[in-house]
Amino acid sequence: MSVSDNGPLTLALPKGRLLLQVQEFFESRGIRFAVEDRKLVAYDEEGLLKLILVKNSDLPVYVNHGIAGLGICGEDVLYESGNSFYRLLQFEFGSTRMCLAGRKEQKPETDGGRLSVATKFTRFARDYFHGRGIPVEIIRLNGSVELAPVLGLAPYIVDLVETGSTLSANNLEVKKELAQIRIFLVANPAYYKFHFRRIDALVNRLQRTDNG
Ligand code: PRP
Repeated sequence: MSVSDNGPLTLALPKGRLLLQVQEFFESRGIRFAVEDRKLVAYDEEGLLKLILVKNSDLPVYVNHGIAGLGICGEDVLYESGNSFYRLLQFEFGSTRMCLAGRKEQKPETDGGRLSVATKFTRFARDYFHGRGIPVEIIRLNGSVELAPVLGLAPYIVDLVETGSTLSANNLEVKKELAQIRIFLVANPAYYKFHFRRIDALVNRLQRTDNG
C-alpha cells in the first residue's frame, strides 16, 4: 500500500454495466474521467483519483491488499469476499435483487427435501438457506448460470436480477426475492485511517446534491 500522502487516491471500479453509472454520477459531481478502450488504469481530470478497472468479483482482492484504497461495488461481491471494509457511502444507482429463480413450469418442490441451486454466489446462497434451516446443495458456476435450469444441471439458480430480461429470455422466472443488493463506496480500513481527510472530502463532494 502506498503510504504517500501526495498523489491521487486509488479507487477500484468494476468493469461492466456499473462503470457507466459510476462515471455519470461522478461527472454530476464535477469529477470527470475517460476510460480508454482496454486500458485498465485511468485518472480524472483534476488528478484527484487514480482509477483501477477490475473484474467485479476481483475488486475486494485489490482493496483488501491496498492496491486500491477505495472501491465501488455491490453487496453481493462484498459478501462473497468475506472482507471487512469501511462502507463510506451508499449509492442510489445500481441496486439489484438477489433472487431464487427457476423454469416457469418448475413446481416449488425440492429434490428429496434438499434444494439444489447453481450460483456464483455460493457463500450467500449457503448462508441464506442454512440460516433458514433449509438443506441445500450448491453447484458453483462462474457465469451464465441461467443455463443450469435450462440444461438440467440444477432446477434453481440464485442470481442477480436487474431488468429480468436474462431470465425471461431463457424461459425462467423469479421464484423468490432473497435480498436487495446495494452499491457502496468502500475503503480499506488502514488506507482510510491514513488518508481520512482527503477521503472525507471526496465523500462530502459525492454526497452533494448540487452540481460542481
Ligand atoms: C448478471 C446476472 C444475470 C444478469 C441479470 O450477469 O448474473 O445474468 O446480470 O440482469 P438482467 O436481469 O438485467 O437481465 P452479468 O451481466 O453481470 O454477467 P455474468 O453473469 O457473466 O457475471
